[in-house]
Amino acid sequence: MPDTRPRRTFAVISHPDAGKSTLTEALALHARVINEAGAVHGKGDRRATVSDWMAMEKARGISITSAALQFTYRDHVVNLVDTPGHSDFSEDTYRVLSAVDSAVMLVDAGKGLEPQTLKLFRVCALRGIPVITVINKWDRPGLSALELMDLIQQKINLRPTPLTWPVGEAGDFRGVLDRRTGDFVKYTRTAGGATRAPERRLAADEVGDDDRHLWEAAAEEHELLTLDDADHDQERFLAGETTPVMFASALQNFGVAQLLDLLLDLAPDPGATTGVDGSVREVSDEFSAFVFKVQSGMNRAHRDRLAYARVVSGTFERGMVVTHASTGKPFATKFAQAVFGRDTTVVETAEPGDIIGFVNAQSLRVGDTVYVGDAIEYPPVPSFAPEHFVTATAGDISRYKQFRRGIEQLDQEGVVQVLRSDLRGDQSPVLAAVGPMQFEVVEDRMVNEFNSPIRFSPLNYQVARITDAAGAAALAGMRGVEVLQRSDGTPMALFVDEWRAKVTARDNPEIMLEALPAGGS
Ligand code: G4P
Repeated sequence: MPDTRPRRTFAVISHPDAGKSTLTEALALHARVINEAGAVHGKGDRRATVSDWMAMEKARGISITSAALQFTYRDHVVNLVDTPGHSDFSEDTYRVLSAVDSAVMLVDAGKGLEPQTLKLFRVCALRGIPVITVINKWDRPGLSALELMDLIQQKINLRPTPLTWPVGEAGDFRGVLDRRTGDFVKYTRTAGGATRAPERRLAADEVGDDDRHLWEAAAEEHELLTLDDADHDQERFLAGETTPVMFASALQNFGVAQLLDLLLDLAPDPGATTGVDGSVREVSDEFSAFVFKVQSGMNRAHRDRLAYARVVSGTFERGMVVTHASTGKPFATKFAQAVFGRDTTVVETAEPGDIIGFVNAQSLRVGDTVYVGDAIEYPPVPSFAPEHFVTATAGDISRYKQFRRGIEQLDQEGVVQVLRSDLRGDQSPVLAAVGPMQFEVVEDRMVNEFNSPIRFSPLNYQVARITDAAGAAALAGMRGVEVLQRSDGTPMALFVDEWRAKVTARDNPEIMLEALPAGGS
């Protein structure tokens, strides 16, 4: 039987240490967990695929795993898609955001908007993903609530529309004023967080004497916010102009139920999606999905390869034969179950918004579409501007075959972009990355998984632009630029610096030089 309950599919975007793991754990404990996609064991040294959830699982003994966590709340099915954190921050992190309908921006009240949050936010903005802001760690001293609102407005140009407003400054957390109902949601400190929600709802006239003074100050600010046009407006939120804000302490489990309620009440349902040819697939149409993440080598005993896909339309049924859009070939999904849960849990069906994992999906790549019925192909997952470039050579020439295979695999997974040219030959391809950490991941995986040591030598380029065949020909031989090809055939022009790229574009307006979205450091 298809599970037709409404879906909410979202990701948490934050800077390391803002409390994402703590919040995820609190959400999982609060709701009823159904599935953990991508459960994998015994991979301690596998940095590329070790997500924060894995680390958390180890540290806290809780079963939260890599790709997506699915739970039910108020008769909705909620899919929390993991954004890998600092240890493997790369394009992968950005791509995951193509699989969600909304994002929760988690902000440390003491630190404000930090660099990685800003980068991830830019991706949300680019994709038109509505963002709910959670100001976390209000139980600790931090910035003032109004200062934080200013930061949001200034740094990301979204109008903050607080749905709750803190009673007591950061570090003196008495609770929040629920701006929708006018109630006081009183906060009670619990020993060590605990699973019990430390929230008690009181009407304004029930606020105790202890809190009265601070409550009145909060009520005054609430009125000022209303006068200042800072009330929630659903249309403007969905249009990406405003961000609803709430105040929380993930560690103390305060605000977690409020956040779940907000997600259900405000975040968008999975919607219709347009294919590259302009045709539209409604969620009620036949099954289709696109791959947003590929992982491999999680189990060294058998060389496995997992492709995670988001269901766009229709009901997925395990065992159904789908068509792989880029090759036109049929693809059997009878192994789709193995990635769900720990060994035994099997997913039989999935609905739009859900994340499914295909095992042994050798042919599936990031961005690929699979479908049943009328052909559909979704637009490619965007790639971001690489800013770090190295040449790679096999550290042991007798293992050149392994080297080649490894590089090809990592390219397909999107761990790095691999660029080639006739001039450089196949022995030493250029690797391009958004962040330098990606090269460490490549090295680790080449040695441990593909059994081929690898040597890098840095290249003196900082900027990449997309060009075309005519552009490639025109740029050949110019100073401070080199043209190479991505594995999808797109020519990329690498420049020594931004200035050289700008001057070249200015002096040669006929050459196509297209910037990729900025993502890197
Ligand atoms: P991350 O996944 O975003 O990197 O952050 P994580 O949840 O690991 O939290 C980072 C640190 O912040 C942890 O402390 C965590 O306990 C703390 N933290 C998270 N939410 C809150 C909050 O609402 N209030 C307070 N006061 N602290 C919070 P740690 O000392 O690094 O680790 P741990 O030993 O406590 O686990």
